Amino acid sequence: MAQKKIIAVLGATGAQGGGLVRAIMNDRAGDFTARALTRDPHTDKAKELARLGAEVVAADVDDLASLQRAFNGAHGAFCVTFFWAHFSPERELANATAMAEAAKHAGLRHVIWSTLEDTRRWVPLSDNRMPTLMGKYKVPHLDAKGEADGVFTRLGVPTTFLLTSFYWDNFIYFGMGPKKGPDGKLAITFPMGDKKLPGIAAEDIGRCAYGIFKKGQELIGKTVGIAGEHLTGTQMAAAFSKALGKEVNYNSVPPEVYRSFGFPGAEDLGNMFQFKRDFEEYFCGARNLGFARSLNPSLQTFEQWLAQNKDRIPLE
Ligand SMILES: NC(=O)c1ccc[n+]([C@@H]2O[C@H](COP(=O)([O-])OP(=O)(O)OC[C@H]3O[C@@H](n4cnc5c(N)ncnc54)[C@H](OP(=O)(O)O)[C@@H]3O)[C@@H](O)[C@H]2O)c1
Repeated sequence: MAQKKIIAVLGATGAQGGGLVRAIMNDRAGDFTARALTRDPHTDKAKELARLGAEVVAADVDDLASLQRAFNGAHGAFCVTFFWAHFSPERELANATAMAEAAKHAGLRHVIWSTLEDTRRWVPLSDNRMPTLMGKYKVPHLDAKGEADGVFTRLGVPTTFLLTSFYWDNFIYFGMGPKKGPDGKLAITFPMGDKKLPGIAAEDIGRCAYGIFKKGQELIGKTVGIAGEHLTGTQMAAAFSKALGKEVNYNSVPPEVYRSFGFPGAEDLGNMFQFKRDFEEYFCGARNLGFARSLNPSLQTFEQWLAQNKDRIPLE
């Protein structure tokens, strides 16, 4: 049997990377095997990946030498940064730069960079429709990812740029699930008006990434956008009502109200949703549902995701 090609996966114990490790290891007849990168190979999550057959290797994205060691001998790598662990776009850019340098150093043949738009291309800092944040960003947790695209390109790393979408899992883990309003009724709140929000089951991101690695050369140098569905707030609320068997409404608020909610990252997310609202046609257009499904035939719809996950969504 030919030797399997190793894919080094960052964030392997997390949402995106975890989905990729599981997709690779569950395809026993496939050409690839996963090297799961984690800061601590002794955690239960890391051991679970080892149990699937993945090689588990220690690496820290803040430590270039550890990335170089972790990428050595691999065919490819899945690169993702962890904004919500530190809230620093500068650190994201530095981490992505280290990943690109390590990929070049190791001579990787195919890298997937999990990126998002640098919204400043659409909304320059001089555009006052939304506030400038942290001095030089409109949407800090998107802009630095988009800025890092140029680093992979400049270094000549054979990269597929993967534009991800809002995880529906945010309804479980990110406090975005239905909440009771003053009228006692459950509602989800977004500053999206009647515009569509591309969303995806987080697990499907890794499965799509696996589809990209399987296509090989074809998608190198390309930007690939993925989503499970593009849904309005009203459509998501209707799906919630059906899945939960109780009325859930959509509470559409202006972006400035969302920005004022006060939780960590509220301004950043308020700007992000406003960007997705104001540039709906571009943003949805860049995330092709049919192509995502061709990469990952088991791509879930929101209704399917809710059927599997509704009991995990905290309800007040
Ligand atoms: N939530 C959304 O809707 C959404 C949508 C699109 C994109 N994103 C982006 O997704 C990114 C996060 O990806 P995710 O959701 O897959 O992450 P995640 O589930 O939060 O998991 C991140 C994993 O990364 C690892 N990690 C954290 N710091 C690390 C470091 N210094 N070195 C090496 N590994 C480290 C941790 O593993 P160990 O503890 O095992 O080291 C952790 O399990 C963010 O940048 C976010 O902006 C989020």
